[in-house]
Amino acid sequence: MSEQILKMEHIVKSYLMGEEVQTVLEGVDLSINKGEFVSILGPSGSGKSTLMNIIGCLDVPTEGKYTLSGHEVEGLDEAELAYIRNKEIGFIFQQFQLLPRLSALDNVELPLIYAGIPEKERKIKAADMLTRVGLEDKMKNRPNQLSGGQQQRVAIARAMVTEPTILLADEPTGALDQKMGQQIMTLFRQLHEEGKTIVMITHDLNIAQKASRIVRILDGKLIEEGSYV
Ligand SMILES: Nc1ncnc2c1ncn2[C@@H]1O[C@H](COP(=O)(O)OP(=O)(O)OP(=O)(O)O)[C@@H](O)[C@H]1O
Ligand SMILES: [Mg+2]
Repeated sequence: MSEQILKMEHIVKSYLMGEEVQTVLEGVDLSINKGEFVSILGPSGSGKSTLMNIIGCLDVPTEGKYTLSGHEVEGLDEAELAYIRNKEIGFIFQQFQLLPRLSALDNVELPLIYAGIPEKERKIKAADMLTRVGLEDKMKNRPNQLSGGQQQRVAIARAMVTEPTILLADEPTGALDQKMGQQIMTLFRQLHEEGKTIVMITHDLNIAQKASRIVRILDGKLIEEGSYV
């Protein structure tokens, strides 16, 4: 049986806007197994980022139970959430969010500095990761000396270098042209084949279809689309 690494049970997220309660997630159930490549597809305002923030332990649900890699998230304080987040989640953002003054290698090394890994080991791991994403000859380049697609590859290497349980990507191709976007999706498929668990948020059906499972989000509810593999 596959190992379940993420489980949401009847997750509700509401915001208080003045006197009015606005419910953005209306009882979401979602289970993801180790090694799955899942896209969460939905239009603007449907609650994708809200859901991503909960998956990534950047925010907590108003109601419901969320379990990530055996950690039950309910009732944890900020420091405990940060600990789980750093250990379990590798974030990939639309705008890459690399540090502009650092080389590709130094950007990828950064999470390992925070994790207290010794320098020699850091350099080896960071270089390995950049090689895996096809950037072995660009390690010394700073972000402005790389194409958008290459910058996103650096960001993916940075997300993977601490060996998180899940790669969590929010519109990872949103800032790229179609060709570069397809190259990033090819890389995701390759990582998926190597066994990585990937959760990707997008509003783009073409991009979503590169995953092996699509979950639609509409008006705060999830609808399973079936498997495409
Ligand atoms: N902190 C907040 N306070 C109040 N309402 C919020 C808050 N964050 C999000 N919302 C509301 O929740 C709804 C969903 O927002 P969310 O950012 O999750 O959408 P999204 O699917 O990511 O959209 P997009 O594709 O445009 O990024 C929106 O109606 C938004 O106004
Ligand atoms: Mg969003």
